[in-house]
Amino acid sequence: MTQSNHDTAWDLLKASIMSFNGSPIGTVAARDTIKQELNYDQVFVRDFAVSAYAYLLADESEIVANFLLEMVRLQRTSRQFDCFEPGEGLMPASFKVEEVDGEQRIIADYGERAIARVPPVDSGFWWLLLLHAYVQSTGDRALAERADVQNAIRILLDLYLSERFDMFPTILVSDGSFMIDRRMGVYGYPFDVQALFFASLKAVAQLLVDSDENKEYITATRTRMDHLAYHIRTYYWLDLEQLNHIYRYDVEEYGEHTANIFNIYPETIPGWLIDWIPETGGYFAGNIGPARMDYRYFAHGNLMAIISGLATDEQAQAFMELLRARWDDLVGHMPLKLVFPALQDRDWAIITGMDPKNRAWSYHNGGNWPSLVWLLAAACVCTGAFDILQRALDDLGPRLSRDNWPEYYDGQYGRLVGREARVLQTWSIAGFLVAEHLAEHPQSLERIGFASSGSHTVAGKCQVPA
Ligand code: GLC
Repeated sequence: MTQSNHDTAWDLLKASIMSFNGSPIGTVAARDTIKQELNYDQVFVRDFAVSAYAYLLADESEIVANFLLEMVRLQRTSRQFDCFEPGEGLMPASFKVEEVDGEQRIIADYGERAIARVPPVDSGFWWLLLLHAYVQSTGDRALAERADVQNAIRILLDLYLSERFDMFPTILVSDGSFMIDRRMGVYGYPFDVQALFFASLKAVAQLLVDSDENKEYITATRTRMDHLAYHIRTYYWLDLEQLNHIYRYDVEEYGEHTANIFNIYPETIPGWLIDWIPETGGYFAGNIGPARMDYRYFAHGNLMAIISGLATDEQAQAFMELLRARWDDLVGHMPLKLVFPALQDRDWAIITGMDPKNRAWSYHNGGNWPSLVWLLAAACVCTGAFDILQRALDDLGPRLSRDNWPEYYDGQYGRLVGREARVLQTWSIAGFLVAEHLAEHPQSLERIGFASSGSHTVAGKCQVPA
């Protein structure tokens, strides 16, 4: 009898486990034996999040608990005036276990060794989201209420909410500080990071215990969430109507009551968008900053916005309409296109710094990433778009298994295995398992921390079927 794709995926996910002193602590990014240079043998926080969801849905929470507590130990807890040291509150992008004199120890990377030294702004977000998912799945609130864990949340909030050179509710970051960890013009206020920020604050609102020490943090979290939601729903949203609005913007407005607060020039609207945006349907733009609107579509943030309730119900439905209308571009042969459209020619040269790995329709610059399929499945559950979920899942397992679970696909429609893609890429495997589980048990979305169980009023509703 041949093994099902489901069983194969589980065997592979288990084979990717990294242990520390005999206990499972995470999963390595990939087990490609040919292209294993660099750091794919490490546990990446953002990649492990997808594995963690698969484990939680399978009622195997030990690995997740171990990971969460290890991250608390790895978080930097002292204030740094030394510019070469990771700042207070930072959590690592990745870590590995090394054996020194017969003893195991964990070596973490906060960005000081990463290619181009990119800092992981998203690690703390993923830790918060996973902590919340863990509590939702297991009911073990005690772990989140431990003094060291509450303290870890507070110092993360110090990092994310306080000192900054900024006047917006969004978070200001440098290029490549999240899943897109290379230069891609995603500095400033990239939408993927803002959506993770919102989802994390929502998790925090449910994780902080009601104590004197936490009071100020609880208020700050809720206030920031409200402002962030308003800002994003208003200024990032793009549909035909909003595009027309921008097209007719006044510019150079000074003072408090202006419509075009970022001073966006209508001339920046790219030609492709005018014909591409459907009559009904919309999405959140990639980035907004001073005189800058990045009109590119980024899948991760848009899907996260839906499942976290950052998108209003109307926006969530309109987004699903867009997927239906622009299926080949945004889903293609392998779910899901990470960024659309790709940067080409001179834009590619200037914005990526001539990065050959990110040439047009490859890798981060318009490649298709199967690891995102869990997010698509979750968004389909929230919006009741089961037709989309089914269509995306059709042949996904056989195709991934045939290609040996690659990291990403290339080409405008995602037909080729990515030129430099690793195989046996763990989050491609875990993403498939989570999506498959959600398709069969849509209510499980609540168990991984999304859907309406939350309490705070600002959040949109991600409804799961009863
Ligand atoms: C690449 C990806 C990053 C991922 C890492 C490990 O650097 O850009 O998002 O976390 O590989 O898979």
